[in-house]
Amino acid sequence: MGTGIAQVAAMKGLDVILCDSHSGALERSVINTERYFKRSVAKEKLTQEDAEAAARRISASSDLQALEPADFVIEAINEDESSKKAAFLLLDQIVKPEAILASNTSSISITRIAAVTKRNSQVVGMHFMNPVPVMPLVEIIRGIATSDEVFQTAKALSEHLGKTVCLSLDRPGFIVNRILMPMVNEAFYTLMEGVGTAEDIDKGMKLGTNHPMGPLQLADFIGLDTCLSIMRVLHGGTGDPKYRPCPLLVQYVDAGWLGKKVYKGVYTYA
Ligand code: CAA
Repeated sequence: MGTGIAQVAAMKGLDVILCDSHSGALERSVINTERYFKRSVAKEKLTQEDAEAAARRISASSDLQALEPADFVIEAINEDESSKKAAFLLLDQIVKPEAILASNTSSISITRIAAVTKRNSQVVGMHFMNPVPVMPLVEIIRGIATSDEVFQTAKALSEHLGKTVCLSLDRPGFIVNRILMPMVNEAFYTLMEGVGTAEDIDKGMKLGTNHPMGPLQLADFIGLDTCLSIMRVLHGGTGDPKYRPCPLLVQYVDAGWLGKKVYKGVYTYA
């Protein structure tokens, strides 16, 4: 997600510092970005000159300190509340006091993330959709303390990136995943109970309801660990048993079958 956000921002003329503590992830990100710009030139969606300019606008660092001059930070680490809080604690110390800190969290409370910082009015949720260069939405989430000015800046930035905004209250799963994830979870129950094969479940939803991907294929694409984390946020945050994670989804994650990124999820990838 971070790579996609960086690509779109650089193509829209913004200077980007891409930061990841794992240098391997940074290298992959730079390679993917080069590949993406090359493909965009080949498809005549970008001129060679614009692609080169966009590539020059991205710098990469494995040291969080590199973010010190940033005006706007978008965190896109794994969907885990304690990791996000730890990242925001550090960012709050590193980044200049007037900067805005945004989280690309797909379900976790912005209010709780903001509470670990000394700038909770300058923390906002900006939930991009995967793949970022293709999907036209950013879901903006205001924490209880997020100021109007910060909300307006996040909205203007999203629109500058060519995205349309929907605004959600800071509730578990926000709008998109409150609705999307129970469908994905239900697809796992449907598979677990043998109602249909994975292929038939996906075929039914793809062709029968005009979804671009079936729910199990989409789960592999998103990452089964992310899907499970979001279901746990919905279940824990509302206390409503209707959000209980499907045991089969839990078991797949326990097995390390996390989806496309590890070449094995509901389906196996070459
Ligand atoms: N980066 C950049 N561009 C990409 C891309 C990527 N990772 N993946 C696909 N594309 C581009 C392709 O290059 C292609 O572009 P052109 O039209 O210019 O040729 C276009 O997208 C369509 O791709 P394909 O023809 O290869 O395949 P497709 O028609 O099946 O589309 C898809 C692929 C856009 C991913 C489509 O299947 C789709 O929309 N799937 C659903 C995605 C979705 O629901 N995303 C939201 C997930 S939920 C989420 O992100 C939030 C969360 O918190 C979990």
